[in-house]
Amino acid sequence: TLQITDWMDMIAKNYSDVASLVEYGKTYENRPISLLKIGPTTGVRKKAIWMDCGIHAREWISPAFCQYFVKQLLETYKTDSQIKEMMTNMDFYVTPVLNIDGYIYTWTTDRLWRKSRSPGALGCNCSCDCNGTDLNRNFNANWGTVGVSFNCCSQVYPGSKPLSESEAQAVVDFVEKRKDDILCFLTIHSYGQLLLVPYGHPSIAAPNYDELVRKSTNKMKVGLAAAEAIKKVHGMEYTVGTSPDVLYANSGSSRDWARLTGINFSYTFELRDKGEHGFKLPEEQIQPTCEEAYSGAMHIISYVHDKTFKGTGSAAATATATLWMVLLAVGAALL
Ligand SMILES: *[C@@H]1O[C@H](CO)[C@@H](O)[C@H](O)[C@H]1NC(C)=O
Ligand SMILES: *[C@@H]1O[C@H](CO)[C@@H](O)[C@H](O)[C@H]1NC(C)=O
Ligand SMILES: *[C@@H]1O[C@H](CO)[C@@H](O)[C@H](O)[C@H]1NC(C)=O
Ligand SMILES: [Zn+2]
Repeated sequence: TLQITDWMDMIAKNYSDVASLVEYGKTYENRPISLLKIGPTTGVRKKAIWMDCGIHAREWISPAFCQYFVKQLLETYKTDSQIKEMMTNMDFYVTPVLNIDGYIYTWTTDRLWRKSRSPGALGCNCSCDCNGTDLNRNFNANWGTVGVSFNCCSQVYPGSKPLSESEAQAVVDFVEKRKDDILCFLTIHSYGQLLLVPYGHPSIAAPNYDELVRKSTNKMKVGLAAAEAIKKVHGMEYTVGTSPDVLYANSGSSRDWARLTGINFSYTFELRDKGEHGFKLPEEQIQPTCEEAYSGAMHIISYVHDKTFKGTGSAAATATATLWMVLLAVGAALL
């Protein structure tokens, strides 16, 4: 079995008072898709945070980050009163590897595989021999409109229809049922050092764009402040913005779908680096990458927590905030 699967079992066992495994779907190749639910049972209906990793198979730092994130939560909540309070009010749903078939394929066959492993032409009238759908183009969010190719050999083939892929469908089924409780949707990718907010379509803006991105004069608002938190750890620069502004336009992403379904705080993290090693991030960068991203994620999560449970943070971004959109040259790699 996958090492990460064993690790998830061990976490659920070692921390059975606060952690449990939830199976919520199957991959195309019929592997169970599971998440770790972290948080004590309190007897009241809790809010929640969603995090998924490994939707793109080759982005290996992403599953490593989800594991780091879980480990940090579990090792610190007893002594860190802020984490403890957050875990009391919110459950953390963490999927360390969503695209398990693709992830295994990158270990066995093709290190740079990105997509799912289903035959792409399933259910479409196209004839082609390539497998795999880009799961992050397969969600029902302006599906099939920009940043895709209907050639099923393409890296950005969006599938024969929205949610043609069981992996994407599993996320939708799980999240939709709990969408009134899920305060924040974080989906972890690499690379590029970016925090991306909705939407991927260039002509649609999220109604709370300002709050998602800017820091206001009175409060350090969410995205840019998260980038600052990241920078404080090891000095790495992360750029914040919508996909079309700082990367490329796209459609059908899980981030956009989550925002459309009513989850106000939805972010894509593109972890290290900026292209020097790309998907093959050297081992010695795993730890520092996780440390800084943890800090950024925790900034967003604690903001959302405090806004919900302490009524702070609602003095939204002011118009005087200045937003520097840095256009990044990230080359042609699809992230
Ligand atoms: C779980 O507990 C066992 C026994 O104490 C220990 O060897 C193992 O490292 C722990 N694993 C995790 C992931 O906490
Ligand atoms: C595509 O997927 C099918 C079904 O799992 C499999 O039989 C076939 O070998 C795959 N083709 C390639 C080129 O990987
Ligand atoms: C999302 O934001 C809208 C507009 O600010 C607000 O009315 C709504 O209550 C928010 N949803 C949640 C779950 O906080
Ligand atoms: Zn990606």
